Amino acid sequence: MRLLVTGGAGFIGANFVHLTVRERSDVQVTVLDKLTYAGRRESLDPVADRVRFVHGDVADADLVDRLVGECDAVVHFAAESHNDNSLRSPEPFITTNIVGTFTLLEAVRRHQVRLHHISTDEVFGDLAFDDPTRFMETTPYNPSSPYSSSKASADLLVRAWVRSFGIEATISNCSNNYGPHQHVEKFIPRQITNLLTGRRVKLYGEGLNVRDWIHVDDHNRAVWAILDRGEMGETYLIGADGEQTNREVITLILEMMGHHRDDFDHVTDRPGHDLRYAIDATKLRDELGWEPQYRDFKDGLAATIKWYRNNEEWWRPVKDATEAGYASA
Ligand code: NAD
Ligand code: TYD
Repeated sequence: MRLLVTGGAGFIGANFVHLTVRERSDVQVTVLDKLTYAGRRESLDPVADRVRFVHGDVADADLVDRLVGECDAVVHFAAESHNDNSLRSPEPFITTNIVGTFTLLEAVRRHQVRLHHISTDEVFGDLAFDDPTRFMETTPYNPSSPYSSSKASADLLVRAWVRSFGIEATISNCSNNYGPHQHVEKFIPRQITNLLTGRRVKLYGEGLNVRDWIHVDDHNRAVWAILDRGEMGETYLIGADGEQTNREVITLILEMMGHHRDDFDHVTDRPGHDLRYAIDATKLRDELGWEPQYRDFKDGLAATIKWYRNNEEWWRPVKDATEAGYASA
């Protein structure tokens, strides 16, 4: 199988490429990545001899048409992915997440190539803390931020291209990922690398907001289950029953890294901050037989802390600029 992976130099995409090279000897991978501030070509260095890398934009229609014409399937990770950035500067979220997805859809329509579109549970908006229900495939879309609304727009385009043009596509909406190679702007790696650089942990507001954490490898194994066995036109929610308040997460990080559990700063809350995300992944488990391998969040978090300790050369070059960006916001 010739597989085109957009955004393969980013956090989840790079982990997907590593997993694919490790476990799928029959797959030839081409990565298309713009190498924005979030894309790191060096994340693919260990698999460079097994992967073709193309530096380019998913919204470049000629390039995308050529690459899609050369492959059997596409997995579409490329996106602007950070809510805080989308509040400061929404424009690239529109061009990459919406126009980029449209560009890809037109190419897969022309070449009749299978597409798997990667999305987020944030398209559903948020849940109340005491809501007994969780997000399901049937939950109505109700996004809150420029990021989540751009992802919702992209999902709706995919659904429309399936219905109107009969393209072969699937969609997955996953909860918050953690693991190696995640940019230090995001919550978990930001706090780990704050402690490793002598900074303090930063908690938005009271830290009561809940996120449903999943290890990136469990997400990517679910993507492979969908590629292998998913039904065309269907949406699958991906989550591993990992609900934690942000306060609980920083307590674990502080204690695992040898600090007092109260050694953090409350900082100004994010405007429009979604309260809680929670996924019901029954469809994925029952229909495709997927199960997460990381069942204890503490084990996955400990492995992630170890990765950031051992791979300082990967994150150190972007740490100061990321913190300067937060400080000036
Ligand atoms: P990331 O920001 O770490 O990586 C995004 C990658 O896309 C980078 O390599 C970047 O260079 C590339 N890119 C950006 N704009 C591009 C463009 N115009 N053309 C080509 N490449 C471009 O993001 P991530 O956390 O790895 O997220 C990957 C996908 O998974 C996104 O679609 C995101 O919405 C989705 N997702 C993320 C999470 C999460 O917790 N991180 C959860 C659910 C879904
Ligand atoms: P983030 O990693 O940005 O993911 P998302 O916004 O997609 O959920 O943030 C996860 C949670 O952590 C979110 O509730 C915001 C909060 N947060 C902090 O408390 N401090 C931080 O420094 C950051 C970046 C996020």
